[in-house]
Amino acid sequence: VASRRRLIVVSNRGPVGYSRDDGGDRVARRGGGGLVTALRGLVSRHDVTWIASAITPEDRAVAAEGAFDETLDGGAPFRLRLVAHDENEYDWHYNVVSNPTLWFLQHYLWDLRYEPQLDAGFVNAWEHGYVRVNERFAGAVIDELAEQPDAAVFFHDYHLYLAPRLVRDRAPDATLVHFVHIPWAQPDSWRVLPERIRRLVHDGLLANDVVGFHTSRWRRNFLRSCEDIVGAEYDRRSSVAEYDGRQTRVAATAISVDPAEFDALATSDAVVAAEQRLLEERCEHLILRVDRTDPSKNIVRGFRAYELLLQAHPDLVGRVQMLALLDPSRQDIPEYAEYLGAIQRAARAVNDRFREDGWEPLVLRIEDDFAASVAAYKQYDVLLVNAIFDGLNLVAKEAPLVNQRDGVLVLSENAGVHEELGEWALTVNPFDVEGQAQALHTALTMPAAQRRSRLERIRAHVRTHDLAAWLEAQLEPLVEDRARRLRPLARLRRR
Ligand code: F6P
Repeated sequence: VASRRRLIVVSNRGPVGYSRDDGGDRVARRGGGGLVTALRGLVSRHDVTWIASAITPEDRAVAAEGAFDETLDGGAPFRLRLVAHDENEYDWHYNVVSNPTLWFLQHYLWDLRYEPQLDAGFVNAWEHGYVRVNERFAGAVIDELAEQPDAAVFFHDYHLYLAPRLVRDRAPDATLVHFVHIPWAQPDSWRVLPERIRRLVHDGLLANDVVGFHTSRWRRNFLRSCEDIVGAEYDRRSSVAEYDGRQTRVAATAISVDPAEFDALATSDAVVAAEQRLLEERCEHLILRVDRTDPSKNIVRGFRAYELLLQAHPDLVGRVQMLALLDPSRQDIPEYAEYLGAIQRAARAVNDRFREDGWEPLVLRIEDDFAASVAAYKQYDVLLVNAIFDGLNLVAKEAPLVNQRDGVLVLSENAGVHEELGEWALTVNPFDVEGQAQALHTALTMPAAQRRSRLERIRAHVRTHDLAAWLEAQLEPLVEDRARRLRPLARLRRR
């Protein structure tokens, strides 16, 4: 087990967000999204200082008070430092560059005939948004390193690609690790960005000692694009890249969940109450999806596949229901707001075509209700994860852990988690709606013994490849890397 060490965790969204309740008192709320859920486990195992953006107005008030000690749900203590950005700069960073540009690029979401249009507004958002926010994060890291020089810095995700270079320039010996939680796109996709910008992205990441991805597929793409975009050399066997006189180890370890947390959640009062409500309404067969309303999640095609299933199998009418529990996400970004509209239209099309007295074929809930999601995890017969592309997809790991109905996983070949769980799932191509309809039918009619054995294999995998194992894998190379940096660079073999 990795020994306890000092870590400076750096991510855009922090583990806690603040607001004021009706009585005017400050309240802390658990930060959303897979990254934060997963990283919370770090806090109990290491001495963590967490640097994150101040997102809400109350976060900004907290930021003004400086770094302070916080706990997670009254449990493990850590130090929290919220970074307050200028509001316009943060808007450009989050709502122009990080999500509609980098996220779209890395999930292949553009229709390149029409978008993106990288005009002066984009260049402004890059210079005065993305760059500035990264500079501010780098400044906060440098301040922290001055106080705790032996701490390792653990950056997360696509909001912070420039920060490692800015830190490296001022702290050449610091230990820097960056985990990218989303897919890495193949080299030519990066050529959508202007040359200067795509070079800065790669240069920034290569300032780290270790860059981690969920799968070997994203790792391979990254090594290739480093070669293509900035001329880095790399060794295919060791996955070490050499650039600018330094070496960066590129790792592939899929993040996971804490099974004990889900065991406890499954029997919690909130989940049991939500499950009771679900049981009162449920049909014979329940098909579930749980996602953020993100275009990469492929929700509209999933509804179309369900419509094709009902069309091809009239015997299922009145006996099956699709439940879509969708967390509204990034609604200040027009592409996301439009996608939510498309989701609602597609759901309506299915219901208008097939609805009968007393039976709603597709139930759409647009809200952030974690207890309702865990209750549905227990009750599904089929779980649909048909992402266009997905860095990993934690739902595919969480839900089988607590499922009580030998539920079958229907899984996109482009979700990172497919590398681990594919052999026990029904694989679908995310664009093939006919194939998805067939897979849903196969899942619904699969013999019980087969359903059970697939579910048990998934569960066993997640229980042994859990969050603790991922956390250790992230920190283990740090020790080796420190030793390696003391040796002269060996010339890398060319591929
Ligand atoms: O890992 C993907 C990710 O973008 C995280 O970086 C993020 O915290 C999470 O999904 C949720 O997204 P957001 O923070 O934009 O709400």
